[in-house]
Amino acid sequence: MLKNKVIVITGASSGIGEATAMLLAEQSTKIVLMARRIDRLNALAGKVRQLGSEAYVVQVDLTQRKQVEQAFATVYSHWGKVDVLINNAGLMPVSYLDKLKIDEWDRMIDVNLKGLLYCIAGVLTGMKSAGGGHIVNVSSVAGRRVWPGFAVYNATKFGVTALSEAMRMELTPSFNIKVTVVEPGAVATELTQTITDKDILESFAKRGEGMVPLEAADIARAIKYAITQPDQVNVSEVLVMPRTQF
Ligand SMILES: NC(=O)c1ccc[n+]([C@@H]2O[C@H](COP(=O)([O-])OP(=O)(O)OC[C@H]3O[C@@H](n4cnc5c(N)ncnc54)[C@H](OP(=O)(O)O)[C@@H]3O)[C@@H](O)[C@H]2O)c1
Repeated sequence: MLKNKVIVITGASSGIGEATAMLLAEQSTKIVLMARRIDRLNALAGKVRQLGSEAYVVQVDLTQRKQVEQAFATVYSHWGKVDVLINNAGLMPVSYLDKLKIDEWDRMIDVNLKGLLYCIAGVLTGMKSAGGGHIVNVSSVAGRRVWPGFAVYNATKFGVTALSEAMRMELTPSFNIKVTVVEPGAVATELTQTITDKDILESFAKRGEGMVPLEAADIARAIKYAITQPDQVNVSEVLVMPRTQF
């Protein structure tokens, strides 16, 4: 079903994006790996090829609109189409609001929301003229529930969840562009490494006691499920929680 499909994965250099590339590489696909850390992308491209798929590495900083435009132009000139966009890149330097970590607020908005929108803009025209496609937005359980300390991250992920439903209504019936929002609970990745607020880190350590996080591959399987359904099916929303997380 995915054979020869061109699948763009943002945030492919680690965590959920990397695991998704590895899983989809087993399906003889053409995978575009996007992120900033080019060494990691090149190493992953080698593994993707070993698993029987083609890989194309595109280094891009999603906060830079022109770079994103150029990145998708490169993909279209290399492979001529994008069948699936997996909008996965994101960061989570959560902090209490009164710490005024405004640069971190900006970065979350710039990557989690604006970068994701730039990628949608990168494929919309091509998918419309191809007669269809599939866009998967990786939101979070934090796009459905709020917690103190998560305010700006919550705002970005509530934004992604709302955007996804509006996209589905605008794009799926009229243009055959399927839209899925995937909402992971806690996953063991590098995501928490950007947190600088010591109070948050302490409360994380306490909150996490007894909780076994998901593995990145668990979310990769949810993404694969969404993009391998029959033509008449649009998997709109997938919430995946660790069994031990409240
Ligand atoms: N881990 C969790 O518990 C969890 C839970 C719910 C939702 N999520 C969501 O899942 C997605 C993937 O996160 P993850 O857990 O796999 O974390 P991760 O391992 O830290 O991966 C984040 C990815 O985003 C990329 N990225 C960050 N800033 C970027 C930028 N300016 N331009 C381009 N790429 C950028 C990173 O690549 P470079 O640094 O190489 O650019 C990296 O590949 C995120 O949207 C996150 O919010 C994660």
